[in-house]
Amino acid sequence: MLAAPIASAALQPMLIDTLRIDPPLTLAPMAGHTNHAFRLLCRQLGGCGLVCTELISSQLVQERRTSALARFDWSPAERPFAAQLFGSDPAIMAEAARVAADAGADIIDINMGCWVPKVAKKGAGAALLRDVCTATQVVAAVVRAVAVPVTVKVRSGWDAEHLTAVEFARAAENAGVKAVAVHARTAQQGFSGSADWDIIRQVKAAVQFIPVIGNGDVFNAADARRMFAQTGCDAVMIGRAALGHPWIFQHIAHELSTGHALPPPTRAQRAALALRHARLTLATTYLSERQAVLELRGQLGKYHLDEPGSVETRNRLYQAETLADIEALLLPLI
Ligand SMILES: Cc1cc2nc3c(=O)[nH]c(=O)nc-3n(C[C@H](O)[C@H](O)[C@H](O)COP(=O)(O)O)c2cc1C
Repeated sequence: MLAAPIASAALQPMLIDTLRIDPPLTLAPMAGHTNHAFRLLCRQLGGCGLVCTELISSQLVQERRTSALARFDWSPAERPFAAQLFGSDPAIMAEAARVAADAGADIIDINMGCWVPKVAKKGAGAALLRDVCTATQVVAAVVRAVAVPVTVKVRSGWDAEHLTAVEFARAAENAGVKAVAVHARTAQQGFSGSADWDIIRQVKAAVQFIPVIGNGDVFNAADARRMFAQTGCDAVMIGRAALGHPWIFQHIAHELSTGHALPPPTRAQRAALALRHARLTLATTYLSERQAVLELRGQLGKYHLDEPGSVETRNRLYQAETLADIEALLLPLI
């Protein structure tokens, strides 16, 4: 398929403070998915300028709990990367940010988008968007605590009546944040409905100097092109479309810069990547083999390894207990 290359300005590297994000396509933080192995895979395949850990509890980091510190699973090979923290207490967030920065995080990202009750009930995540004053205090405390850039990931607001992203983005910039990512849905929407990208355009118009990262419902190069064009955002963040498709960044970057779409990977290529994903996971995970394979079942299921109309591979994948089981299933497909 041929499509016009995007205006070259839109694929310009993004600068988060002095960090160069090139190309300006980023992997969204996703709990249960964006562990070290998946982040590294996205970076290695190309086209992905920045990756982010899943959300990590500032409270548990501050208490130095092993379960939270295990999520500091990064390595220099995935640079640049952000470590995402959630919490609503400025002092605890500041302390957790210091710990993450000392452990090598390039960027501290503050989660202000998570709406699940476990997080929002404690006033953290998207609940902070209901209280711009506390949200700004959290940001200011984290900015003061670390030398690395601090970014924030927000939703449009708590609900349709309280679209606070614009007001908060301005306050966050004044407090020293170096980039804002906007998932263009309210917390109340969860994942329902479609993202209303106009809020990204409004945030971009509202901030003075910092880059804005657009997020929500980008599934292919045409979507990314439209998001850049309609919102003026500096980078596009991709979440669900990357699951089982870590090559998506390379494909979008290629299509936006050349106007030519790369051919989709064949079934054998998808199986080879799924196997690489599995091996990389087992080589780097802090989980036991059994726990890691349980997580991998769902992750690898998204590589769509079955022939059309069949669910055999998927079903067998869901019975895998060990890496050897996964290898026995995938090697014959390659
Ligand atoms: C399984 C899953 C886990 C997620 N976990 C996080 C998270 O830990 N932190 C966060 O800020 N957003 C999280 N999100 C939201 C995504 O980062 C992103 O904002 C959302 O999926 C919209 O982007 P998309 O339309 O490209 O998927 C998660 C989304 C999914 C699907």
